[in-house]
Amino acid sequence: MLAAGGFAAVGAGAMAWPFISSMNPARDVLALSTTEADIGAVPVGAAVTLMWRGKPVFVRHRSPAEVTAAGQVDMGELRDPQADSARVKAGKAEWLVVIGVCTHLGCVPLGQKPTDPRGDYNGWFCPCHGSHYDTSGRIRKGPAPANLAVPTYAFTSDTQIKIG
Ligand code: FES
Repeated sequence: MLAAGGFAAVGAGAMAWPFISSMNPARDVLALSTTEADIGAVPVGAAVTLMWRGKPVFVRHRSPAEVTAAGQVDMGELRDPQADSARVKAGKAEWLVVIGVCTHLGCVPLGQKPTDPRGDYNGWFCPCHGSHYDTSGRIRKGPAPANLAVPTYAFTSDTQIKIG
């Protein structure tokens, strides 16, 4: 808005080039509004972090046992009740995709690297104030009020995901 106001003060003849030049950042922003990646090489039990709109997105390749356990949690135990099946794509429950930003005060939780602590529920642990998330990214313990958010995404092939 500030730039547009600035250009408005310049004579019409002088506006043409600066206006076109100002379009370039807009195109860059558009390109970043989606993130696409092939996650096929991520082994079971491991995770990869993608960047989407300046935020980390955690992609974890869950084991069959983790998927089963996440699906069996009693909704009554959850602070922010949500079934695991509502947080993954049908037929792709082995892949959990969540925004890696703690819902307490915005730290990036630990649990992506094999050496990271994963908290009491084997998901992620936010060391800032001690929030524990489970293998579905749901808040289980600590001050965070809500589950790790699931971004808008889709599988564009068996192993390719597009976020945004
Ligand atoms: S920011 Fe994660 S527990 Fe406070």
